[in-house]
This record gives sequence, C-alpha cells and structure tokens, in this order.
Amino acid sequence: MDFKLAWEELKRRAGSAVDRRLLSSGVAHRALLLARLGNTSDPSMPVSGEELAAALGVSRAAVHKHVAFLRELGLEIKSSKGIGYRLISSGDDLLAAETVAPYLLALQDPAAGPVVGLPYRYLKECSSTNEMLKRAALGAPPGTVLVTDRQTAGRGRLERSWFSQPGKDLTFSVIFHPCLLPAQAHLLSLAAALAVAEVLEKLLGRLDVVKIKWPNDVLLAGKKVCGILLEGSLDTDRLQWVIVGVGLNVNSDPALLARGIADKRPDEWQGKPAPVSLRAFASKHFPSEGLPRAPLLAALLTRLGERCGPLAGETLAGAAFLEEIRARDALAGREVEVLAGSYPSRVLVAGKAAGIGAEGQLLVKRASGGVTPVFAGDVVVRAPGHWEGC
Ligand code: BTN
Repeated sequence: MDFKLAWEELKRRAGSAVDRRLLSSGVAHRALLLARLGNTSDPSMPVSGEELAAALGVSRAAVHKHVAFLRELGLEIKSSKGIGYRLISSGDDLLAAETVAPYLLALQDPAAGPVVGLPYRYLKECSSTNEMLKRAALGAPPGTVLVTDRQTAGRGRLERSWFSQPGKDLTFSVIFHPCLLPAQAHLLSLAAALAVAEVLEKLLGRLDVVKIKWPNDVLLAGKKVCGILLEGSLDTDRLQWVIVGVGLNVNSDPALLARGIADKRPDEWQGKPAPVSLRAFASKHFPSEGLPRAPLLAALLTRLGERCGPLAGETLAGAAFLEEIRARDALAGREVEVLAGSYPSRVLVAGKAAGIGAEGQLLVKRASGGVTPVFAGDVVVRAPGHWEGC
C-alpha cells in the first residue's frame, strides 16, 4: 500500500467522510489502520499497538478488535506480543471497503464535494451489481458504488450475459444523477468509456493500444477488455438517476471468458471483438500473482467521477470530451452494420463508420453516399480480420 498522502491529511479526509456519513467509523478506523501499517518507511518493522492506538485516537483494545476484523477480511497481519503488528501482504487485491477506501481518500477529498465511490458497498457475491443497485437507487446518494467479486447473473447490453472470473476481475456499478435529457444518455456511456480508457492508458503507459468502440466498449489492441451497461430512470423529461455498470477484465484468463461467451449463443458474437484481460495483455509488466485491484478500482471510480459527475446537457454537445472519444475511435473507417434490439437483431444501417458527430452520435456513410446518424445500437464489423489493427 503506497498512496502518497500525508498521514494527517488522510486522517482528516477519513474524518470528513465519517462526518458526512459516507463511511462508518469502524471502516474508517480499519482503513486508517491498514494505511498506517502499509505505509511505514520500513514495512518489515512492526508498529506497536500503542502507536497505532495513538495514531487512530482509539484504545489498544479497539486496535486489537480492528486487527481481528481485518484478518477475517483476508488480510495477513502478524502480531508479536509486546512488539506490535506487521502487515504481511498488502491486501491490495481485496475489494473490501477497508482496502479501497485509503486509495479513494488519497484521490478524492470528501470536504471538496461528493466522492465517487462513497458510500462503498461490497458483496462477495450477488446476482448483478446493476440489478442490486437499481433496487436501492432512490435512497442512494450520487457516487454510491456497489462492488462484487462474483456475479451469478451479470448482465450485458441488449439482454446478453456478462462473464467475469470470480475474484479476478472488477465488476461494479455506480449511481449518478446527471443533468441530461434522456436523448443524451449515450453521452454518459461515452464519458464512462473514456474514463476507463484514460485509466488504462495511464496504467499501461501506452496511448496507442486503448480504443473505444462506440458507444461504450473499451478495447485493448482490438480485443474487448471492458464493457459498460447503463440503466436509468426518467423523472418527467430528465434522467432521474443513471447506474453505470462496469465490467473490466483484470486478471482473468481470456480463454475462460471466451468460453463463457461461446457457450451461450455463438453466432451472436460474430463481428464482435474477442475478450482480453489486462493481465493477459501485459503479463510482462504485472506481477505473476496479478494486478492489484483495489488501487485500480479507486482510480477508475475517481476518473468516472471526473468524466461523468459534472455532465450537464447544455455544456455537452460538441464538448471537448468528444474530441477525446474521436481520438480513440476503434470504428473509424471500418465497414460496419448497426443492429437494433436484442438477439436475433435486425440491421438498422450498414456502411462505413465515419466518425462521431457533434452530439456523440455514430456517423455511418452508406454505399449510396448518404450519412446516417446513429444514437443507439450495437455495432458489428463484418470484414474478415476485422478487429486487427484497432
Ligand atoms: C456489455 O458489454 O454488454 C456491458 C457489460 C457490463 C457488465 C457490468 S459488470 C457490472 C455491472 N453489473 C452487471 O450485471 N453488468 C454490469
């Protein structure tokens, strides 16, 4: 755990999150305890119970209780009588609130505005994070996230299923209250895809391999690494709330993901990009045990907040962020078919993808010469070898 924020500042932010009821004090204390243990100048040196108690402003008995709780979450903390506590493994791949909160608080200050990612809810297993968060949507403050390690009925767009390898990938949903008209919902998809793409570019240190397949798939060297599912509710003529569900293949085996897909409706996937995980793509750069998911999740939530949080319809059309989408457009210049509805779907329009319009619509140039703007649909590329070079 190394999140480069002064201890006093981290403590202030945790306190501020507790005051705003974004974190419970128990989670805040355990998150701080972990941060203190993980961020010592020499991680092999134990930190005494007395020092931890003083740093957190709690009793030594409370420290003991919190350590027991953290161990139950799966963290390995060694204690030696009369000497202190030592963190054996960072816990950075665990997705409990305690392991993610220090990273979130290092990136976002609750005193400065809503924190995307707080309140933070984690379930070891659930049907679908989108489905579960939808049920709680009315009472959930914007920025609330629901994260799980395993979805039993993960959903994709157009009534497809979404497959992730339990405990290996990221599957989560965030609620936003954007100031958008229903017809502008696709802009939120694009903004979310852009946020994910930007985080991946930073992580991989490469700008050339990450692309966006309109409206909301993120591709890595032509393969799908992330899917995004938006579900919302209308309030008269405005979007009341929108849930942005993100499935990011982090450490999974792409062969397993592909099998999950093919077992369903094989022909449905023709012309769609094959799955890939970050680890499979960049195994050279990441430790063999995989890429730690907690800091990655905090970075994704933060960027999603920066891209989707301030969305307001009036300022969006033709906005600068569309230039960022165009720069990453995986479809530009390809022969495409836009399909409508769920499987088996009919072809809405076919032609050459000709970029992204001022309202975020996909432009398709038909063989007859005219250009059709597409605001919703599913795009497939029919040519052989279609995704190579994306
Ligand atoms: C797609 O590419 O079709 C969209 C996939 C979206 C998957 C995510 S995983 C978290 C959230 N919960 C779901 O059931 N689906 C989304």
